[in-house]
Amino acid sequence: MTYDPTKQTREAAVVSYRHCQPSEAVAMCGIIVRAGVDDALDELVAGLENLEYRGYDSAGVAVRDDEGSITVCKREGETDALEAALEDRKLDGTLGIGHTRWSTHGAPSDENAHPHTDGANRVAVVHNGIIRNHDALRSELREAGHEFTSETDTEVVPHLVADALDDGADPETAFRRAIDRLEGSYAVAMLVGDDDAVYATRHGSPLVLGLGETANYLASDVPAFLEHTDRVVYLEDDDVVVVDGDSYRITDGDGTPVGRSVETVEWSAADARKGVYNHFMRKEIDEQPVSLRQTVEGRIEADRGVLEEFPPGSLTDVDDVVFVACGTSYHAGMYGSTLLRRRGIQATALRANEFAHDPMPLTERTLVVAVTQSGETADTLAALRAASESPAQTLAVTNVVGSSAAREADDRLFIRAGPEIGVAATKTFSSQVAALALLADRLEEDGAGSAGGEAASGRTVTADLTSLPNDVETVTNDEGAARLAAQYADAESYFFIGRGVGYPVALEGALKFKEITYEHAEGFAAGQLKHGPLALVTPATVVVAVFTGRNDDRTLHNIREAQSRGAPVVGVGPTSATAVREAVDEYLEFPDVNPNLAGMLANVHLQLLAYHAAEIRDRAIDKPRNLAKSVTVE
Ligand code: G6P
Repeated sequence: MTYDPTKQTREAAVVSYRHCQPSEAVAMCGIIVRAGVDDALDELVAGLENLEYRGYDSAGVAVRDDEGSITVCKREGETDALEAALEDRKLDGTLGIGHTRWSTHGAPSDENAHPHTDGANRVAVVHNGIIRNHDALRSELREAGHEFTSETDTEVVPHLVADALDDGADPETAFRRAIDRLEGSYAVAMLVGDDDAVYATRHGSPLVLGLGETANYLASDVPAFLEHTDRVVYLEDDDVVVVDGDSYRITDGDGTPVGRSVETVEWSAADARKGVYNHFMRKEIDEQPVSLRQTVEGRIEADRGVLEEFPPGSLTDVDDVVFVACGTSYHAGMYGSTLLRRRGIQATALRANEFAHDPMPLTERTLVVAVTQSGETADTLAALRAASESPAQTLAVTNVVGSSAAREADDRLFIRAGPEIGVAATKTFSSQVAALALLADRLEEDGAGSAGGEAASGRTVTADLTSLPNDVETVTNDEGAARLAAQYADAESYFFIGRGVGYPVALEGALKFKEITYEHAEGFAAGQLKHGPLALVTPATVVVAVFTGRNDDRTLHNIREAQSRGAPVVGVGPTSATAVREAVDEYLEFPDVNPNLAGMLANVHLQLLAYHAAEIRDRAIDKPRNLAKSVTVE
């Protein structure tokens, strides 16, 4: 599909904005644009449903009909509320934009929902990101007589465009003039009443073009339109794309045409659907045997990691590794750093937001690895950018091929986990750790492990990765976590402890538990319990202890400290750990496995524990309050 400039007819139009409710605000958010030959609304709403993991405070759509009228409908709440509002409304038109919002500034409200329009109702805009200079722009526009109906940064954009249109600019020029004034990060899409194309750009926030048979799409992420097409163009920062039902054109910030390759997404539409499951989270937990196989497929030969991305000798100039990441990805980075240190490779994991603005000394022999499922987390991108400005080498370990992290890092390693929709990351954690374990082989062989790692005894970590998917399946079929979630439903606090690779797993278990149950949950290094947290332990504190088959005797000491304060202890460990089984009050077991990988199996039990505890409490498991999957603001 190519862009045909003759299709850019400018219809004289009567524009009427019929707001079914006022709305607005700022965010990370999800954008969907649909330009086709038949009505856009249904596909817009379906796209919003698929993007809800990016935000669910409010949702809205704007549709342009054949006469050039734009109708906006937006509602506070999840997409359901918007759908209810749309039930008795008619939004005909082949061109539309939609938005689902996660608030970072200003309360979720109808007023702060997108799309936003200008005062004269000629322009409708959706936006993901933050416009940092919106206060200054708003003051300037107010002085020029513009009136605003929301508190959002976004609302300045349609007003800026309207000003340029009033000055006689055509829509594309008006759009460019408006975005030239913006500072911050944004993906923006715009409808203009008297034009039959959508204008969009990105600068630090994701936007991908989808090319269908009978319609074209733009979205913050591929699942928004995956039902309709798998042919995509990943836009670069400052690209301006003009798209209608059967053509598109991409130019750079100066208006020079640029060629961007059309790629085929390997994810299937079924991957992005819930199927028989009640929640994406449970589906994604159960998918781990498959996603893990995908991660390692073709990447293990003779029990060693062979990464196409890193042929032998490609990492000979690396002495030390620094992982930067957030949330679950940070825990995967911690896990990876432990695996590397055990191989004699100097490695550290830092929270991306801390590293970004307070970086550590880096040399040209340091490899900074940004671990990020989405590849769009603002804190992680900031850390990656800080590293790029240092002499260090950079690598993105990510699930999203066209993501900002993948494009900005010197190198990239894809975890191939498939789309993850549940806000609570599950399958991507195990795939991240598996990918980092494979990377460890290359680093070690290329000499980064000169500090003297552990002698390989018996099977290697990589060899055991091959059988890990079957072991994960044993855990996903286990009903122990469901039983214990019910048994301990009345506890006041949930503490998770572990050591070695069990430590990041304890942190991850606590994160999962608190984010979807809203109960008090904390993770600690097992040995730290006695240095403070023990003061909080009472009979109403459930202590979940991770055992990996390595240094378990020490963790046994730690659980006794808790038990003597009356706390019930749930052990999570290998089948053959008899001493552990005898010491704990309850036991969740997993198949005996290389201790380096045992944390990954324990983690699946903890995912299930959190899931069932949230289910009992009837929580919004896939869309926990105040959270979003991909946080594209710092
Ligand atoms: C948010 C999500 C977490 C996720 C983190 C990092 O906080 O709620 O689930 O782990 O971002 O996301 P990333 O896409 O960089 O892995």
